[in-house]
Amino acid sequence: MVEALISVLLEKLASIVFEHTKQAVTLVLNAEEDVHSFRSNLEAIQAVLEDAEKKQVTEARVRDWLQKLKDVSYEMDDVLDEWNTEILKQQVEEGKKEVCFPTPSINCFCFGQVNKAIHHHKIATRIKKLNEKLTVIAAEREMHGFHPSTIGGHDDQQLIQRQKTSSLVDISKIFGRDEEKEMLLSKLLRESSQEGNLVIPIVGMGGMGKTTLTQLAYNNEKITTHFHKKVWVCVSDPFDEIKIAKAIIESLDKNETQSSSSELETLLLRIRSHVEKKKFLLVLDDVWTEDKTKWENLKLQVIMQSCAQGSTILVTTRKEGVAKMMRATSNMIHLDKLSDMDCLALFNSFAFLDREEDEANGFGAIGEEIVKKCKGLPLAAKTLGSLVWYKKKKKEWRDVLNSKIWELEEVEEQVFRPLLFSYYDLAPAVKRCLLYCAIFPKDYVLRKDNLIEIWMSQDYLNSKENKEKRRIGQNYFENLAMRSFFQDFRKDEMENVYECKMHDIVHDFVQSLTKKECIIIDAAEGANEKIEPPVDKVRHLTLTSVSEGLFSTSCYGCKNMRTLTLLDSSITTISPSSIMQMKRLRTLNLSYNIIHEVPKEINELIHLRYMDLSRGGNLKELPDALCDLYNLQTLVLVHCYGLEKLPEAMGKLINLKHLYLDNCWGLRYLPKGIGSLKSLQVLDWFKVYEGDEALKLGDLGIMDQLQGSLEIRGLGNDAKDDASEIEKAQLGNKEHLSHLGVHFEYEGRKQRKGDEEIVKALQPHQNLESLSIWYCHGTTESLYWIKSLHNLRKLDLTFWRFCELFPPLGKLLSLEILKIQWMENVKKVGVEFLGIQEEEEVSGILFPKLKQLTFDGMDNWEEWAFLSEITIMPGLSSLRIVRCPKLKALPDFLYKIKALRTLKIKGCPILEGEYEKGMGKEWHNISHIPNLTIQKWN
Ligand SMILES: *[C@@H]1O[C@H](CO)[C@@H](O)[C@H](O)[C@H]1NC(C)=O
Ligand SMILES: *[C@@H]1O[C@H](CO)[C@@H](O)[C@H](O)[C@H]1NC(C)=O
Ligand SMILES: *[C@@H]1O[C@H](CO)[C@@H](O)[C@H](O)[C@H]1NC(C)=O
Ligand SMILES: *[C@@H]1O[C@H](CO)[C@@H](O)[C@H](O)[C@H]1NC(C)=O
Repeated sequence: MVEALISVLLEKLASIVFEHTKQAVTLVLNAEEDVHSFRSNLEAIQAVLEDAEKKQVTEARVRDWLQKLKDVSYEMDDVLDEWNTEILKQQVEEGKKEVCFPTPSINCFCFGQVNKAIHHHKIATRIKKLNEKLTVIAAEREMHGFHPSTIGGHDDQQLIQRQKTSSLVDISKIFGRDEEKEMLLSKLLRESSQEGNLVIPIVGMGGMGKTTLTQLAYNNEKITTHFHKKVWVCVSDPFDEIKIAKAIIESLDKNETQSSSSELETLLLRIRSHVEKKKFLLVLDDVWTEDKTKWENLKLQVIMQSCAQGSTILVTTRKEGVAKMMRATSNMIHLDKLSDMDCLALFNSFAFLDREEDEANGFGAIGEEIVKKCKGLPLAAKTLGSLVWYKKKKKEWRDVLNSKIWELEEVEEQVFRPLLFSYYDLAPAVKRCLLYCAIFPKDYVLRKDNLIEIWMSQDYLNSKENKEKRRIGQNYFENLAMRSFFQDFRKDEMENVYECKMHDIVHDFVQSLTKKECIIIDAAEGANEKIEPPVDKVRHLTLTSVSEGLFSTSCYGCKNMRTLTLLDSSITTISPSSIMQMKRLRTLNLSYNIIHEVPKEINELIHLRYMDLSRGGNLKELPDALCDLYNLQTLVLVHCYGLEKLPEAMGKLINLKHLYLDNCWGLRYLPKGIGSLKSLQVLDWFKVYEGDEALKLGDLGIMDQLQGSLEIRGLGNDAKDDASEIEKAQLGNKEHLSHLGVHFEYEGRKQRKGDEEIVKALQPHQNLESLSIWYCHGTTESLYWIKSLHNLRKLDLTFWRFCELFPPLGKLLSLEILKIQWMENVKKVGVEFLGIQEEEEVSGILFPKLKQLTFDGMDNWEEWAFLSEITIMPGLSSLRIVRCPKLKALPDFLYKIKALRTLKIKGCPILEGEYEKGMGKEWHNISHIPNLTIQKWN
């Protein structure tokens, strides 16, 4: 942790520019000397840090020394940041942009420009004191006899790119657990008359694969059809009956977001009403408690008696005592060590992914030796396998085998040792990013983009080459994922990973490394959960279940806190006095609270870089003072539907990169000032609005770094000249934009004439991956440019009610998902859809990548006819045709598509007759499709 902190700090120190000019010369001279001395001390220390980091695992003295070093470094970092903020402030106030900042970043500090001499005197004094402290620390290092490390061991970007597809696979195959799997499935699928309702404990030490096995069963198709209701709850420690009951209800009833009641009895009755007489499968993952009263209070076994026969509670636990306590030892499934052979197979599947030839070349033999050290633990085999995948030399493999880490007695859990290996192998900056994840509770879903933005807010994503920070974050994320620190990846429709989790052991591991710095406390537990002193060592604090009043007491004294997150909380205000206590915050997450006001004192949080106020439905406006947060990079306001306006002065937020506003329904317009934020990278929502106070579409013209998603609302008022504004917006230059969504005004019967011109002017950059256009009154001829979007993977055209022809899409090489809805005037679909001329000779394949196709609400569509000699949509796997009452037949080519696995026809009376199961004339042509649904519209 310290390593990365120091290397970033050194970079900052190195980039200070001393300008010996005019004012405050004395200050500059004083500070300059101290800064130089600080820097050289720090460099001397840096040389032994790697050794120190390793020694601290076992030596308390070294731990203390590092702690002191850390404190001084953090403080210096704060001082420099204050200084820099002062400069930013001056810059904004005087409108003196780019005086000495080539880019508005922290990479350049200028002395001399700032003339607040008193303030500077204070800063200079603080630097002096810090330098004195560091001098002592530097001298102390002699006592510990550290070995200097060889320089340049780590390269920030030492990322070997695996093929993208294979990089983030969870290897879903489970090694050496066939017997246990069979046993588990047969217990779950037992005849219901047999043995009534069961509790089945799965017991094994950490890292043995209990959760993996359970997931495999839980997601098994047979299990899914066998049970009427399934619920998965992560329990962990402490065992909190109310929380568990709430989690079960939330999972059973999606409508129930925040269960209002906190009465256990009431909650249990609600659970019961959902599962009564149903066959119910409940998984309680990672149970620790052996306390019988707690378990009996929860009355799950009582509830199970009201369920249908065959209902089951599946429990995973590291302790056999838990199974005893539940009186379920007779059904216990014990997960023991894997055999060396199975362990090796698992190890090899990671270690030799995409490099099989190495296995034969002698690496395999070393691998076998390494696997013996895994002692049959699957998690260990997986971690080490992912680690050595990076190692291309045999010597490096042997180093793993012969390392001293295997002998560490002090490491708490056996399975931590392989994790330590992987951890030491990370570059310092990546280490920090990993450790930061200790602020999240167990089993927490990590959103990739959020994670990258909060790493950024903590200043973890710096690089000498000044590469774009988001890219660096992306690399770090992939690095951690490939080394198996992350798992359970979730991908969106287009196969991009957007979420993941941490294995609970990995979570234990990072928490063990960040004990005093990252703390999670449950505020509702009150007195029992006070932070252990020293509170000033807490840097990242997560509070759960905070209600009014508990807030300020819970974080009392954490004055060095850099991150504060409130989860499952419901505070209504954040008082000025608590703001004054947390002046060092970089990251503040108040999402999901019911805050109705942000006090103007918010501008005291001068270091703040990330603020999440999302889902604050009571928030009507934000104070102007918010615009004094010159370091703010990310502002998340999504789902603040009560928000009516944003502060006018937002142009002062010169470091703002990400502004998230999606679903702020109440917002009438965006303030004009945003138009000066040239380097904005995310602006996910835009609303067209007349009036000089509002940002215009044309103002987006200079924001050529926009990326991710952009939704434009409210286009198409004939009185305005939207087309020329769109032209000025220069969407064609936004090469990083991946999604563009355009919503015209919804308008009844009358056709707007101007839409046509607007669509023509929309032409996006050819890198665009996803496009949706709703409520357009134009024809698809205006989409003439769509042929040039070679990277378009997803297209959604909805409510083009005056349009009679489909757009030409057959030659879009990347198109995977296509939705066409409510084109009510289309009668016939023919070759124009394929993008070819009637008489054209076609070579190659049309719709080569299309996988999912949906037609919905096509009231007048009668005929779908294509030439049949051409290969069309060979990869189509899912077709949905809904509410097309006049459609007479499906085209023949569909019958021949081998990939087609899902066909859904709903609310199409003619087709329903033609394709009726067993009866319809055409039934035999589609009966081979495995997932077939033909339904009336009810
Ligand atoms: C959720 O609420 C909506 C509207 O209140 C209702 O139509 C729907 O049936 C509810 N769903 C469940 C699962 O209760
Ligand atoms: C912020 O908090 C909300 C819930 O309170 C959570 O869903 C979200 O993931 C958090 N964001 C980050 C970046 O931690
Ligand atoms: C569809 O099935 C009918 C009856 O089995 C058959 O006569 C017809 O030729 C099939 N159509 C195609 C295109 O295969
Ligand atoms: C089967 O089709 C339905 C829609 O009709 C879809 O939701 C479901 O995911 C499909 N199942 C599989 C296994 O493809």
